[in-house]
Amino acid sequence: MQSIQSYIKDNKDRFLGELIDLLKIPSISADSAYKGDVLKTAEVIKTSLENAGCDHVEICKTEGYPIVYGEKIINKNLPTILVYGHYDVQPPDPLDLWNSPPFEPVIQKTELHPEGAIFARGACDDKGQMYMHVKAMEFMTANNELPCNVKFMIEGEEEVGSVNLAKFVKANREKLTNDVILISDTGMIAPDVPSITTGLRGLSYVEVEVTGPNRDLHSGLYGGAVANPINVLTKMIASLHDDNNHITIPGFYYKVENLSDAERAEMAKAPFSLEAYKKSLDIDAVYGEEGYTTNERNSIRPTLDVNGIWGGYTGEGAKTVIASKAYAKISMRLVPNQDWEEITELFKTHFESIAPKGVTVKVTPHHGGQGYVTPIDSVGYKAASKAYEQTFGKTPIPQRSGGSIPIVSLFEQELKSKTILMGFGLDSDAIHSPNEHFGVWNYLKGIETIPYFYKYFTELSK
Ligand code: BES
Ligand code: MN
Ligand code: MN
Repeated sequence: MQSIQSYIKDNKDRFLGELIDLLKIPSISADSAYKGDVLKTAEVIKTSLENAGCDHVEICKTEGYPIVYGEKIINKNLPTILVYGHYDVQPPDPLDLWNSPPFEPVIQKTELHPEGAIFARGACDDKGQMYMHVKAMEFMTANNELPCNVKFMIEGEEEVGSVNLAKFVKANREKLTNDVILISDTGMIAPDVPSITTGLRGLSYVEVEVTGPNRDLHSGLYGGAVANPINVLTKMIASLHDDNNHITIPGFYYKVENLSDAERAEMAKAPFSLEAYKKSLDIDAVYGEEGYTTNERNSIRPTLDVNGIWGGYTGEGAKTVIASKAYAKISMRLVPNQDWEEITELFKTHFESIAPKGVTVKVTPHHGGQGYVTPIDSVGYKAASKAYEQTFGKTPIPQRSGGSIPIVSLFEQELKSKTILMGFGLDSDAIHSPNEHFGVWNYLKGIETIPYFYKYFTELSK
């Protein structure tokens, strides 16, 4: 029988070609102008799952974009792995910062990817990582190596909050029963430092609107005499952090899980170079909450960040005007035990309470989700760890990530199973940014490692 290593060698060009074709379809879930492309992507995924050996592949309609579901049940007495991924991508803008068009994939070498990386929107998040699972499945079915049952659930609305997937999961608990959920939609420390993501942060995303006078005004005739919504909004936002960069919303930290000194010491063992970090971002200093390291700030601590701010005149030249309205979009990343709906409420109450007289404030919640932590003594974690040992020759390091996949906590709540996050991207792969890419080596390494997870999970489940 053929090994996964030789199968990859024989099929490498096809594996890359198929991913490149998938990346050419602009499946931008946030922008309704791309509706046809998002739907087309679902069809392509369906066909790829059929070709990979799934029985019963279906496109499940939702109120939004469909969920592609496929399965292969070989024996009801064997364990079942549920693979989750998403086929939608983030909008590619700002377009002028891309070195090549976002939906015309090219392979180029970089310092961290000497074997080349595929540059395209969705290359790493999540088409490339999701497709590793399809190709690993293809290998297992083609070579009679599938040791257990498998279910695939690939959605098209992850980047816009997975609202319809949540409904789908609640309505299809029976269909989705599984022993473990496997996801590749996160990262790892470095090609020679494999890691398994053990935590995700929660999220509360809100939009705020500050309204002053009923119309835009001449800034000379009215300036200084009425509240300027942009001045007010920026002042309100600035007050959300104190001098130590703690968040000032009353009750915000109330439920935050505090790690013990021992846990923090364990975390600090993960290799990290502050110098390299600063250099990679062209900054002369890091910035953040007093009393915590960079790795703690972006994983075990909650944050509040303005993601966009607008209002007034932003065109060419100068226009002397006081705008009637100012806006901002704000994200709060949350940690275990913080409830996103409660935090959204705390934000709203606080933000409204700090508005000065002369303006009105409107807070509109967008999507959100709970954080997630997975234990490292589960069968799933052990199987993943052994799989990495097999293909990387090293034991992976458990690491909490700062990103969010809100649906993961809902999976645990509704399906009662743990999620294993086997990510193969690098933080520097520029997901959500211009020039997103995914290393060819990482892509193939993922395809190589996944079948071992199946093998060890099945063996350890006995
Ligand atoms: N795959 C990312 C999340 C991620 C990336 C987690 C890297 C850990 C490491 C996912 O597609 C994503 O972008 N999630 C959003 C939240 C969502 C509700 C839009 C995020 O984290 O901003
Ligand atoms: Mn993703
Ligand atoms: Mn994403």
